[in-house]
Amino acid sequence: MDNGSVGGLWPPLVRTEYVIILRHCLKTTKRLGESMVGSIVLFGPPGAGKGTQAGRIVELTGKPQVSTGDMLRAAVKLGSPMGMAAKEYMDAGLLVPDEVIIGLIQERLQEDDAGQGVLFDGFPRTIPQAESLEKIAIVSSVISIEVPDDAIVDRIVGRRMDPETGEIYHIQFKPAPPEFEGRLIQRPDDTEETVRSRLDAYHTQTAPLADWYSERGLLIRIEGNASIEQVGKSVESAISRVF
Ligand code: AP5
Repeated sequence: MDNGSVGGLWPPLVRTEYVIILRHCLKTTKRLGESMVGSIVLFGPPGAGKGTQAGRIVELTGKPQVSTGDMLRAAVKLGSPMGMAAKEYMDAGLLVPDEVIIGLIQERLQEDDAGQGVLFDGFPRTIPQAESLEKIAIVSSVISIEVPDDAIVDRIVGRRMDPETGEIYHIQFKPAPPEFEGRLIQRPDDTEETVRSRLDAYHTQTAPLADWYSERGLLIRIEGNASIEQVGKSVESAISRVF
């Protein structure tokens, strides 16, 4: 980023917009204790449970969560030109162009809290994104939450978000307390039709990254087609093996 904007042909994300997006994302970031050097990548298909498990990894490692999905949704909420352009891709279940995502990550990694590595959630999602990341950060492990497609649709269509706390619920698998039900929202891209496009994008553009990281000895596969608690235990065990 040279002139205060992110993304070549895209509407520029000016510094003030970036700072507002960052503040929004930091509100839901818990930072505990000292971190170990190196970043962790939380990898998996849409609805695999990356966001659900991220909080525990943050608690265990002290690394701040960096979710490109959350950053993009903050830009959409802000109504910035970049956010509006990204929204078209997100609503269609397509990946936002690499140049925009890489620009956002380059900016985010310059923040003070990123010095000991971060927890990437939903990034990288293409081989060009992973190649760019390799040049600017050390990735110490990639935790892949593996869930078959037929389980994904139910998870995504039933997902509900609490806009005040950022907590992720599910109408069947993780119901919200009754007093919060009235304020829950559904993401606009959480429709059955959009999930199919997101799964297509995952299989064609993102899934090949598993082999890419496996060849580098970084991939840890977790069985994600289990209860939230069981997946959490597998994630904790993976973290204890690498740190
Ligand atoms: P993003 O926000 O990253 O969405 P995603 O990867 O599709 O992942 P999700 O947030 O849908 O799922 P998750 O794995 O976090 O699951 P969760 O824990 O919520 O990206 C959105 C869009 O932004 C993309 O489509 C793209 O357009 C764009 N984008 C973002 N990053 C990009 C990038 N790097 N490059 C290009 N474009 C990018 O769980 C889902 C539900 O299941 C919840 O209701 C939860 O309660 C439930 N659940 C979780 N675990 C379990 C379990 N074990 N059993 C039963 N239910 C469970």
